Amino acid sequence: SGKSTVGFALAARLNYLFFDTGAMYRVVTWAGLDAGVDLHDPAAIGLLAETLDIAILPAGEAQDDRHLTVLVDGQDVTWAIRSPLVDQNVSIVAAMPRVRAALSQHQRQIGVRYARGHAGMAGIVMVGRDIGTVVLPDAPLKIYLDAPIVERAHRRFLELERRGKQTPFAQVLADMRERDRIDSQRAIAPLRPADDAQIISTAGLSVQEIVARIVALAEMDTQPATPYPL
Ligand code: DC
Repeated sequence: SGKSTVGFALAARLNYLFFDTGAMYRVVTWAGLDAGVDLHDPAAIGLLAETLDIAILPAGEAQDDRHLTVLVDGQDVTWAIRSPLVDQNVSIVAAMPRVRAALSQHQRQIGVRYARGHAGMAGIVMVGRDIGTVVLPDAPLKIYLDAPIVERAHRRFLELERRGKQTPFAQVLADMRERDRIDSQRAIAPLRPADDAQIISTAGLSVQEIVARIVALAEMDTQPATPYPL
């Protein structure tokens, strides 16, 4: 939680690509709703995940506090995929094995491509619930951010408000609870920290403090395990 804000700030600090994998699950959900496909039909939704042309790009010139730009078949859906309707339905889609297989494979390719630097970026910060456990199990540094649900719901509530999407706090909280329940109980790639993840409890910490902690961990991580001989 807070992973998008923290991941974005961390990536900017390190000159890494920021890549939010949740956006991909949201795109498939949005596209299903947009095309009137039954979201409970794994074959139809699986096919969408396998065939949509999804691009997750740096924000570019856009002046609306986006962290990245999301295109599907060339159409800008950056904000459309953050609607309450997508929020309410994305967990159904994210629980489908065929969807996860298609999106994970795509994410793994991007992770591997950028791991040692690519296209002017020195590396990649990949954000999502199963990156350390499934997508990139060999990632050199895994961070699991933990925050009280009320704090997370409050952040989301403020984000919706900023975008003129007034939603009662109780509903934001209830939606988030339901999504957490489905995400952590699903059979495939349930939400859990990797065994070798560093867990940071974000309660009471500012974004800059969290980023500083992660940078310190990254620097420790790149030290050689045994000192170089003199
Ligand atoms: O992080 P987010 O709220 O944008 O994620 C949207 C949904 O996608 C959420 O219900 C969990 C799912 N998701 C996932 O299952 N695996 C990921 N790597 C990223 C997101």
